[in-house]
Amino acid sequence: MKISQTASSKISLDNSVKQRFQIEHLLIPTAVVSSTAGTDVVQGLTQTSKTLPPRYFYDDRGSELFEQICELPEYYLTRTETGILQKYAHEIALKTGACELVELGSGSSTKTRILLDAYEEQHLPLRYLPIDVSGGMLENSALALLKDYPSLQVHALAGTYELALAQLQAKELASRMICFIGSTLGNLNSQECEVFFSKIKDALHVGEYFMLGVDLQKPKGILEAAYNDNQGVTAAFNLNMLDHLNRRFNGNFDTSQFEHCAFYNTTKNQIEMHLRSLKTQSVELATLNLKVSFTKGETILTEISRKFDIQVLQGELKAKGLEPVKIWTDDNQFFGLFLCQLQA
Ligand code: AVJ
Repeated sequence: MKISQTASSKISLDNSVKQRFQIEHLLIPTAVVSSTAGTDVVQGLTQTSKTLPPRYFYDDRGSELFEQICELPEYYLTRTETGILQKYAHEIALKTGACELVELGSGSSTKTRILLDAYEEQHLPLRYLPIDVSGGMLENSALALLKDYPSLQVHALAGTYELALAQLQAKELASRMICFIGSTLGNLNSQECEVFFSKIKDALHVGEYFMLGVDLQKPKGILEAAYNDNQGVTAAFNLNMLDHLNRRFNGNFDTSQFEHCAFYNTTKNQIEMHLRSLKTQSVELATLNLKVSFTKGETILTEISRKFDIQVLQGELKAKGLEPVKIWTDDNQFFGLFLCQLQA
């Protein structure tokens, strides 16, 4: 694997890079943004069981903390998926042939480099379309990739999955593989999964590919340790959501008056992350005109992280017409990588 380089948007781009790079900011019209921004926060915090959408984890600080989580000894997910990719990237490249690789939630694109290496080694032409809500992260990682892969074309899309997938539908391209790795699917409940799979289908032609990486069911002790690390990085990541809301919506959450709490719900096969109020208190988010009160011990659900069963998920994908043509896992069966193909 190539060493990742740090790029800054300020570096002068030589022509070879410029010609291979395009970034598109998918924007919702301003009027829509200002009238809908934060409605999900208001909705979540005014329900009887309070919730907040996990996407509010990822401001700059949160993205940094997430990168740290991936390195934790207890957090086996990233390491395990990387191992599977390293072992089977060549097989994946052989199977799909030359293609356009669309990645949902590309982040730092670290794991993607394993795939890019495999396509390059087999001299298979590749176009890379990373999609991420963080425009800054997207631009920096794209520029680093362009320097390291001299024949790679990068067309970055800054925006949500929904916007980006809808945008892809309009295009006519030879072959495509949409990648959704890192077990981000786990954040969606089963109903949201259904909708998501339909959007994937709409963005593919028959015979094209969908690659999905998911965390698998395993003993509770291993799962709970991964979300309650000894160094407290996951706790900081969870609490940072409140700081993020404070900055974004002019709020006064006192993070010292909430605590991180994560446990495995064996009935629903999901990790649930909460923020628990340490006292009776009320909090204001001025920009949203919102005042919320908490009783002592009350929690906000900030994330579900579902853990899948290979056979069940295989059946669901097949029923959806996204037939798994190959499923890889590690020796412990901790993580699963599905290569699916859209059926006629
Ligand atoms: C990025 C959604 C896959 O569910 O494990 C890590 C996020 N939350 N530690 C996960 C997360 C707490 C992560 N995903």
